[in-house]
Amino acid sequence: MSITINGSAAELPSDPRVSLLDYLREHRRLHGTKKGCDQGACGACTVLVDGERILSCLALAVQFEGRSVTTIEGLGAGGALHPMQRAFIEHDGLQCGYCTPGQICSAIGMAEEVRRGVPSYVTADLTAEAALTHDELRERMSGNLCRCSAYNGIVAAIDQVLVEAVR
Ligand code: FES
Ligand code: FES
Repeated sequence: MSITINGSAAELPSDPRVSLLDYLREHRRLHGTKKGCDQGACGACTVLVDGERILSCLALAVQFEGRSVTTIEGLGAGGALHPMQRAFIEHDGLQCGYCTPGQICSAIGMAEEVRRGVPSYVTADLTAEAALTHDELRERMSGNLCRCSAYNGIVAAIDQVLVEAVR
């Protein structure tokens, strides 16, 4: 059983009880993905599976046989940071940084959801073209908590990278 992680094939664990989060951190030594609550409440463990954001603490690694997982370590290309990573730095979208990998992966997955027209709880008109207003952005990122409360910088960073692309 194999899985692709950040573009490279890897063997899945023989123990089907291993969460995707523990597999990434403990088996693959990819410590960028963080364990906060380990019960689906904080978003620190967010990774992308075939471009969709998921909480890796609530998933079993073996569920993703044949799928492609991207973690914070796999976002950049050619030694350069992903634009979302650069924007978080430019806008001080972090303090301690513990939530940051999850915030960045979540923001990238969220943008793709908007592009596909997936509504959120605050989407008023389901027939209108998706617009990433600040209310929409905050609602769609509400699953990613930041104990340092760097929310203004987080929103500014995401806004810079994504809002203009979908407005
Ligand atoms: S560690 Fe997965 S949601 Fe908190
Ligand atoms: S930057 Fe510290 S938890 Fe978000």
